[in-house]
Amino acid sequence: MTRSNNAAIAVEKAESLAIMDNLGLICGDTQKTVKRRGFDLLRRAVPRPIKQLLKRLVGKVRATPGRPPPPIAPPRTAINLADTTAVRAFVVRSDELGGPDATPAHEWWQTLTFDIPSSLRVSACRLDPLSAEYLALQDGLYAAMVGGPYQETISELAPFDKEAAVAGHLAYPHCEPQALNRHISAMARLVDQVDRPGSLRILEAGSGWGFSCEYLARLGHRLVGVDVNPDFIETATRRSQRLGLGIDYRLGTFACLPVAPDERFDIIFTSAAFHHGRTPLLALQGMVRQLVPGGQVILASEPFIEPAMWPAWGLRADALSVYCIAKFGWWEAGWTRAFMGELFSRVGLEMRFADYHSDLERYMVGRLAVA
Ligand SMILES: C[S@@+](CC[C@H](N)C(=O)[O-])C[C@H]1O[C@@H](n2cnc3c(N)ncnc32)[C@H](O)[C@@H]1O
Repeated sequence: MTRSNNAAIAVEKAESLAIMDNLGLICGDTQKTVKRRGFDLLRRAVPRPIKQLLKRLVGKVRATPGRPPPPIAPPRTAINLADTTAVRAFVVRSDELGGPDATPAHEWWQTLTFDIPSSLRVSACRLDPLSAEYLALQDGLYAAMVGGPYQETISELAPFDKEAAVAGHLAYPHCEPQALNRHISAMARLVDQVDRPGSLRILEAGSGWGFSCEYLARLGHRLVGVDVNPDFIETATRRSQRLGLGIDYRLGTFACLPVAPDERFDIIFTSAAFHHGRTPLLALQGMVRQLVPGGQVILASEPFIEPAMWPAWGLRADALSVYCIAKFGWWEAGWTRAFMGELFSRVGLEMRFADYHSDLERYMVGRLAVA
């Protein structure tokens, strides 16, 4: 082994020591042994200035007298997302622990990692993220996680108590007052993004129980709500009739909005819904066609991912998303900000982010040029 190799190893060891100690991962005998070995190498191979630097680093890791040995973090269990059996077992165990809202399930989730097979990740890096092959790759992963193919008009259906949803004071009958307040706050921030005055014609795509449409209708705007789930359309329509809000709910999808060719909107927005769509470019193109000049597309409360998960977009590999995909069959995609920014610019939307640092209060705002 060469002198410079030894030096590099010693530097690496000392840095690791400092980092491990900062993380509370070494103590007692282990610390002594590792330190002794590190210094043996140091003595033999390392030039003086580097030795001094190393000594300073290693000096930081002296044991604090009386400090109890730190707990050793248990190794994380990896779940291969392409392994249907493993993903199913994850859902079963999560439910046994009380489901996504229960602390025991959350604690268990902290001990897991969700692995996208490296072959998929390599292909994802190689392919055009807007190509049919890329979509097929994501479809394949979905099929492995769910045990069957995605079908837009069936897979998104969700069981809920329709009568409670119709009768509820606000359209989220299952929410605690504090959670309702957070949703109202997110709506207020959404309205802050609107850059034109007066009573506007607004379309919400993925309107669900009607919470957002109702909020905006009460402000005096004229609302059309679109959803793929006929139960949501029926529920939200009955609510609007009961409350006298005059909201026009229509069955349809993001990529095929049920609108007349000459219908125009000042704002088209989604709230925690657009990530259920498989073809975001197609959907944005359709939305822009229905906008007035200077109109806005706003994606509210939507998830963005880091490129470390997928280079551009893909099914989200966090515990809650994996649970929702595998348990309910929902399409739970995430996009990098750069990728979605590219899509906005392709369809002619001038884009900005308004980020209030919470999942709910995050807005991607696109404005169509006036001329
Ligand atoms: C999480 S819910 C959000 C509902 C509502 N925007 C809210 O904030 O309460 C997602 C909604 O998107 C709808 N959805 C899913 N896929 C869709 C699609 N392809 N086209 C239209 N709506 C869709 C679902 O039916 C559901 O109502």
